[in-house]
This record gives sequence, structure tokens and C-alpha cells, in this order.
Amino acid sequence: MTSDPKIWRATVLTLFPEMFPGPLGISLAGRALASGLWALEARDIRDSATDRHRSVDDTPAGGGPGMVLRADVLAAAIDATALPQDRPRLVMSPRGRPLTQARVAELAAGPGPLIVCGRFEGIDQRVIDARSLEEVSIGDYVLSGGEIAAMTLIDACVRLLPGVMGKLSSGTDESFSDGLLEYPQYTRPQSFENRQIPEILLSGDHARVAKWRLAEAEALTRSRRPDLWAVRPIAPETRNQRKRPKNTTDG
Ligand code: ADE
Repeated sequence: MTSDPKIWRATVLTLFPEMFPGPLGISLAGRALASGLWALEARDIRDSATDRHRSVDDTPAGGGPGMVLRADVLAAAIDATALPQDRPRLVMSPRGRPLTQARVAELAAGPGPLIVCGRFEGIDQRVIDARSLEEVSIGDYVLSGGEIAAMTLIDACVRLLPGVMGKLSSGTDESFSDGLLEYPQYTRPQSFENRQIPEILLSGDHARVAKWRLAEAEALTRSRRPDLWAVRPIAPETRNQRKRPKNTTDG
């Protein structure tokens, strides 16, 4: 089933293929992997080393600490995958463009990416340029390698694949899908350490509940993520109102 060329596939190039599937083999992503809804291939970059020590890195040109992943070895590893040109080629890096839900959705809608995981101080720039690798960051902090970042990206994509979320799908409600953080959720018991579920959520009035949730999501986004709030999309139901000239009335 995993050899189906139409299936969404993540091909990972890493020095630690044994780290995969790791958490991707468990829970939602793991069940979807086991049932053939997506495929994962982790390939060892070291298999493309050519010298007798199987070396993959060397000291940085110009001096400095650490080691740099060699361009020739990584290029050979990429070429050995013989992947079609339509597969996005990513490299996980803290200096990449920050990953967004919009980019995740694009990647999930495509055939699935090739993802290079760096280690050491970095990767020789020439292979990034020569193989047109898109540098992607998962946040402004530095991990010890790209593997956990790659898993994060893959997990975010996999949950969007058709059939993976099934009835769990809350597509339109969740954080970021509409440019807002998610409203707070509650469940039983009704009273927890003397804290109550907000009355309105128990009212059964779906319109009031929806209004309350939107207001909560907006307040949260405004206070926690002013960056998201500043660029939020205009809600379709208010779009016409905003465009309407000031001197017209509703009737
Ligand atoms: N590798 C190390 N740190 C990273 C980060 N923040 N994002 C993506 N890849 C990384």
C-alpha cells in the first residue's frame, strides 16, 4: 500500500533514521500511517558518503566551531531519492521561513515533501542553492537537529490529509484556520475546584454560544498574539458591512 504513488509521502534525509517514525508512529498519525493513509521513508544521509570513514561533515571554511554537512554527500543523498520534481524540497533550519498553518495546508495538499534534517553547525550553502532547498523554521529557538522539527511539520500536515481526522475534524474551528486562536473549551464536571463552566455554554442556545466563542477567540488573539490580530482576515459576514459607504442604511 505504501508504494502507491498517489499516497502523500514524507521522505526524510537524516543522519538518525532510527528516530523515525518515533512519535509519528503513535496516535492519530500512527494509526493513519498503519492504515496506509500516508507513507514515511527515512533515509540515512551517511549511505551517500564515499570515503572509507563514511564521513558526512567537515570543519567550516573560514574557521569557527562545529562541523558542516558536506555539499557533495548531501547532494548525492538527495539525488539518490530520484524523486519527481513536483515534490517540495525542504530543509529544516532555525534560519528558515517560519512555518505557518497556510504553508502546512499547501504541503498537505501536494504529493508530500522531501525533508532534509541538518545537524552540526549547518549545511554547506552550495547544496541548498544547487538543489533549491526551501529553508523552513518551526520557531525562534535552536534544536540540536532538524529531526524533531521535521516530525512537527509532518504531524501538522498528516492531520489535514483526507480521512485522517475523520469525525474528530474540527477544521473550521481550530486555532489559526481563521486567523484566530481557539476559544477556551470545557467539559464535565460542571464544577471543578469551585470553578464553573460558563453559563452560556450550558444554555443550548447555539447562536449565543457561537457569538461567545468568537468574542473569546478575538480577545485571546488580541492580547496574546497582536501580530496575528493585526493581519487577521475579515470575516465573510462583516466584509460587506465594512465596504458599505457610510451614508447607506441597513433597510
Ligand atoms: N533545526 C534546529 N532548530 C530548528 C528550528 N527552530 N526549526 C527548524 N529546524 C531547526
